Amino acid sequence: MLKLTSIDNQFVNPDDVFPAVIVNDGSVTTIEEACQWIDDRLSDIATLLDKSGAILFRGFPIASAEMFDAFSASFGYPNFTYQDSLSNAVRINFTERVFTANEAPKEVEINLHNEMAQTPIFPDKIFFSCLVPADTGGASPILRGDMMYQALKKASPSFTEQLEQKGVKYTTHMPAEDNAGSGQGRGWKSTLSVSNIDEAEARLTELGYTWEWQLDGSIKTTTCPLPAIKVASNGNKVFFNQLIAAYLGWKGVREQHHPTLRFGDDSQLPKDGLELMCELSETLVFDVEWQAGDVALVDNNLAMHGRRSYGGETKRQVIVALGAAKLQ
Ligand SMILES: [Fe+2]
Repeated sequence: MLKLTSIDNQFVNPDDVFPAVIVNDGSVTTIEEACQWIDDRLSDIATLLDKSGAILFRGFPIASAEMFDAFSASFGYPNFTYQDSLSNAVRINFTERVFTANEAPKEVEINLHNEMAQTPIFPDKIFFSCLVPADTGGASPILRGDMMYQALKKASPSFTEQLEQKGVKYTTHMPAEDNAGSGQGRGWKSTLSVSNIDEAEARLTELGYTWEWQLDGSIKTTTCPLPAIKVASNGNKVFFNQLIAAYLGWKGVREQHHPTLRFGDDSQLPKDGLELMCELSETLVFDVEWQAGDVALVDNNLAMHGRRSYGGETKRQVIVALGAAKLQ
């Protein structure tokens, strides 16, 4: 049996808590012991994660990317490499498995999202580890998708039903070349793992995108309809998409969201529905207030995540590893 610790502001539901918190009782003192500790409890951890959607491990000896690599690998999920993803975020790998979290400037809030829900391939699990917390702020808000679904359905049954039935499409740009200076600057060759236009078009077709080449050599791509709501491992319907982050965070989208974001049948998403969705999400988040050495394991199907802005001189260091690629 796993011994759970309660934490301030945790959601306590009839059958589960969000997030679940496991604190090292002092018996685990080395990274080798930490990996063994996980390995001995894999099935209990999997059951807990299916119910809770997120587990925070606190007080385990994780102090470097290499230690985090070993710790996250001990859960046994196949590695989902950043190279294989269709994300356009620019990231830096520390080890084969571990890379930087979104390196957006500290004053920028990264709004709630399911990782890569705007692309056909997404990771099943996400590990975050905090090596260095920010001086102020910098928490990672997390949100349970079934709680969000219930709240949205109650507040706007018709919007929720349309999301569920039609799904959503996302239109994004893949730049001509990699631009490390931009947070979203990964070019189409890297994003699609191809070397020329023919290969790019074949890959986009295979993934179900439509596209338009632009004069500057970039591609405007639109996904096939992707789910906005789906059923998670706990059997509950969950809000699962990139709508909040895209609506609040993608340039110019809050002012003019159509056609960047639209229903799967190309009809327009209602602005009041999008605003409502953002408002409700803030009432249901749990902020992971990082301590050095913390690891959070998030079921990407069941919980969204984001990043609060932060202040101070210290460089906040939160690193990431992804587990198991899934197709939408
Ligand atoms: Fe993310």
